[in-house]
Amino acid sequence: MVLIDGKKIAEEIKDELARDIAHYIDHEDRVPHLAAVLVGNDPASQTYVKNKEKACQRVGMTSSIYKYPETITEKELLEVVDFINNDDDIDGLIVQLPLPDHIASEKIIQHIDPAKDVDGFHPVNVGRMALNLPAYVSATPYGILQLLERYKIETEGKRCVVLGRSNIVGSPVSILLAKKTYPGNCTVTLCHSKTKNIEEIIKEADILIAAIGQVEFVTADMVKNGAVVIDVGIHRVPDTSKAKGYRLVGDVKFEEVAAKCSFITPVPGGVGPMTITALLINTFKAFKKEIYP
Ligand code: GUN
Repeated sequence: MVLIDGKKIAEEIKDELARDIAHYIDHEDRVPHLAAVLVGNDPASQTYVKNKEKACQRVGMTSSIYKYPETITEKELLEVVDFINNDDDIDGLIVQLPLPDHIASEKIIQHIDPAKDVDGFHPVNVGRMALNLPAYVSATPYGILQLLERYKIETEGKRCVVLGRSNIVGSPVSILLAKKTYPGNCTVTLCHSKTKNIEEIIKEADILIAAIGQVEFVTADMVKNGAVVIDVGIHRVPDTSKAKGYRLVGDVKFEEVAAKCSFITPVPGGVGPMTITALLINTFKAFKKEIYP
């Protein structure tokens, strides 16, 4: 069994990116710039945004955080997006989710200029991705593809089972892995809460992508010998033996499933570290006007 080291790969990609950016900006009068909009005080969102800021510094990009209180109105937030859309010094814009209930996230996302939508959440980018046109691919699916590629995992003709149909992970990853490319050319089955005989379907997977949001849902008896398992889940479970009082687990019961796999991602340290890397790659593409010339 090979442990897919997302942390190591993410560091390698950041090194490469730092080199490429330094080389590229030699003849430019500014550096790539990622802006993040953060609303409210959600601790997980604050951590994500802080990590994004650190990662930008690491590769030589500028980052700015636009912080607003929970009470900001939808109209005011749309104005913030407008303002950043029109700022030529900012290449990429992300609005950290979730937003408070009184704000319609889709409306905010649809207001972002697709050319700055480095999260790849705007319908124009999702549509272009589905149609094989140049597009920003969202961070988690992009990170998963990078891991498959960097570990030279064979995908052509493989049976791939994706658990979960979210807009952010399950749905785009199922589209991407069915494409006529590498990584891709898989026969993809997308399973969700209404799927019948889900365990039998999982058992047929050569490549299993678990993004179902349920603590240790996938157990060893469901997995085929030699399968490749990518665990997108991340959950805190109480653990008094840890200083923080919890430990992180995924959608896969790691120890027992790992024993049957050819490749598996751990939680933490698998898919997670790759997501910010993907965002940095997209921001550099935005700077170079690679997707929208
Ligand atoms: N919240 C959790 N993950 C993400 C992400 O990838 N992008 C944004 N904008 N918000 C998130």
